[in-house]
Amino acid sequence: MRQVMVAGNWKMNGSSDSVKELMAGIKEGMAAVTKAEVVVCPPAVYIPRVSGAADGSAIKVGSQNICDEDKGAFTGEISADMLKDTGCEYAIIGHSERRALYGETDELVAKRFAAARRNGIKPIFCIGETLEERESGVTNDVCSRQIDAVIALEGVEALADGVIAYEPVWAIGTGKVATPEQAQDVHAFIRGKIAALNAEVAEGVRILYGGSMNPGNAKELIGQADIDGGLIGGASLKAEDFLAICQAAE
Ligand code: 13P
Repeated sequence: MRQVMVAGNWKMNGSSDSVKELMAGIKEGMAAVTKAEVVVCPPAVYIPRVSGAADGSAIKVGSQNICDEDKGAFTGEISADMLKDTGCEYAIIGHSERRALYGETDELVAKRFAAARRNGIKPIFCIGETLEERESGVTNDVCSRQIDAVIALEGVEALADGVIAYEPVWAIGTGKVATPEQAQDVHAFIRGKIAALNAEVAEGVRILYGGSMNPGNAKELIGQADIDGGLIGGASLKAEDFLAICQAAE
C-alpha cells in the first residue's frame, strides 16, 4: 500500500512572520491528519525556521531544489548536506519553473536527483508537458524522456528512493486543473512505463499530481488509482486550504 502524500511547494512566497503563522496553522490542524505524509517546502532561507516550527509534529520539510555537486565553489547553490543539516528530508527536483525559467535540462535534473539520492535526501521529481506539447499529442513522450534521463544515470531502482510528481505545466498556477481522467491517464502511463522495467518499483513508487489542486478538486484527483497525493502550490500558502487537501487525501 502506498502512503498518500501531500506536499506544499511555497515557491518564492513568505516572510518571517507569515511563515511562522502558516506553520502554526498547519501544526494545529495536524491532529486531524492521520494517514497522509505531509511535507512543506519553503524558500531555502526559511528552512531552519520551518524545521524548528515542525519539531514535535509529523510535518516533514523539503527544499525547492538541490545542488548536483556536494561541496565547493558553486556560488548560490545549496548542497544536500546543508539541507539535511537544517532538517530537510525531501527536495523538489526539476520543477517546471526551474526547467523553463532557469534552463535546467533533463540531464542536470538527473544529476540533481543523483546528488539527493547519494546523500540521503528523497527527491520529489517533477515532470510534465507544456500546453503546446499536450496539444500536439506528445504528453507521454515528454514524461517518458524526462524519466529516462534519471533512469539512464541512476537506473530504474533509483526511482524507489523518491517520489514522482506529474505536473502538467499548463495546469500550474492557472486554475486550469487536469481532469481526474486526464491526470489518471498520464499517471497510469508513467507507472506502466516503470513496470516494464521493474514491476516492484512501479508498484511502490508514489506519483503525485500537481497543478491547481485545491480543497474542491483534491478528493477526486487523489481518488484515482494511480494518483498517490498532491504537490500543491498556491493552496499550500493557506493553512486551512492545505489542511483541507490533506484531509481530502485521506
Ligand atoms: P499550483 O498549485 O499553484 O498550480 O502550483 C503547482 C505547483 O507548481 C507545485 O509544485
